[in-house]
Amino acid sequence: MTARKIIVLPGDGIGAEVTRAAMAVLETVAEQFDVSIQREEFLVGGASIDAYGVPIQDDVLDACKEADAVFLGAVGGPQWDDVPREKRPEAALLRLRKELGLFTNFRPVKAYAPLLNESTLRSDIVEDIDILVVRELTGGIYFGQPRFTEQVNGEERAVDTMEYRTSEIERITRVAFEAASRRRNKVTSVDKANILATSRLWRKTVSELAADYTDLEVEHMLVDNCAMQLVRYPRQFDVILTSNMFGDILSDEAAMLTGSLGLLPSASLGDGTAMYEPVHGSAPDIAGQDLANPLAAIASVALMFRYSFNLEQAASTIEQAIDDVLRSGVRTKDLHTDGKLLVGTAEMGERIVEKLQIATVNKD
Ligand code: IPM
Ligand code: MG
Repeated sequence: MTARKIIVLPGDGIGAEVTRAAMAVLETVAEQFDVSIQREEFLVGGASIDAYGVPIQDDVLDACKEADAVFLGAVGGPQWDDVPREKRPEAALLRLRKELGLFTNFRPVKAYAPLLNESTLRSDIVEDIDILVVRELTGGIYFGQPRFTEQVNGEERAVDTMEYRTSEIERITRVAFEAASRRRNKVTSVDKANILATSRLWRKTVSELAADYTDLEVEHMLVDNCAMQLVRYPRQFDVILTSNMFGDILSDEAAMLTGSLGLLPSASLGDGTAMYEPVHGSAPDIAGQDLANPLAAIASVALMFRYSFNLEQAASTIEQAIDDVLRSGVRTKDLHTDGKLLVGTAEMGERIVEKLQIATVNKD
């Protein structure tokens, strides 16, 4: 029996509901694969602001650094819109990413066959897509300095800074290249090199490293073109390597190819503790109503087994259970169409757990 310590940060809005469903799946699979899980839960984001006046407490960060993995639900909500930026719920997420050194963000976008006809795009366009978005997560315009708002000639002027260093680009590029080597050997590096200095450095660095990876096909694509190509012909992509902000935008777009933003998981990796979270936000409009889709959170647990616990079989068992439950016609509201069985967040989670239990009974 291996022991693993996990920090759970449900956060705000639908974060709590989807985390609850995901943790039930975690417990089920951990038991099946002989992992003993010790969980500790803390407030982050708006919930932490309300309780402690800060989006994340220092000792929560320390606990995360010492854990084997972190699971985060979602942060944010309209009630904290007017607080200064460093105090916003999102600041918790940025601090976690930065202080845990999570420079890699994997966002795997895979078509679920049972949902082919439920995408907003034609099924022949989204069929068989299998894209890994590799987003740089601790640099770029999210963190560059200076950043401020000032008064100039009677009006406000705001500045953000987009910044990248060669070493930051190199390390994320290597991760993307290694990932592509285990997939279909193709990397599309996305930038805006016709305009931005950071993108020219990005392109140059990626090209130089590509010389060491002769088995890979490495291409460059401008971000506006990539946004278009994702809906025109998404099957052309294997690994998409890109900067922090472009990755944020393109991954939401890519998520919709699969049918719903409620399906896309993510893994944030660095040299220490990794963090797992659904790509979707806190969806305050549907929070607390048992309407949210927990599958992105559940699929994020699969990534935890894959990347933090090195249990590939546990990961694929969860992914298979998601596919099976969708195939049986069960849907949360975001994906519901006529003739399918509409369920809430909790029931969707229970259905996955049941499927996992049946899967092991059959295996034994
Ligand atoms: C994401 C989110 C975050 C981001 C927000 C909540 C700070 O949109 O993880 O994609 O912009 O990175
Ligand atoms: Mg985003």
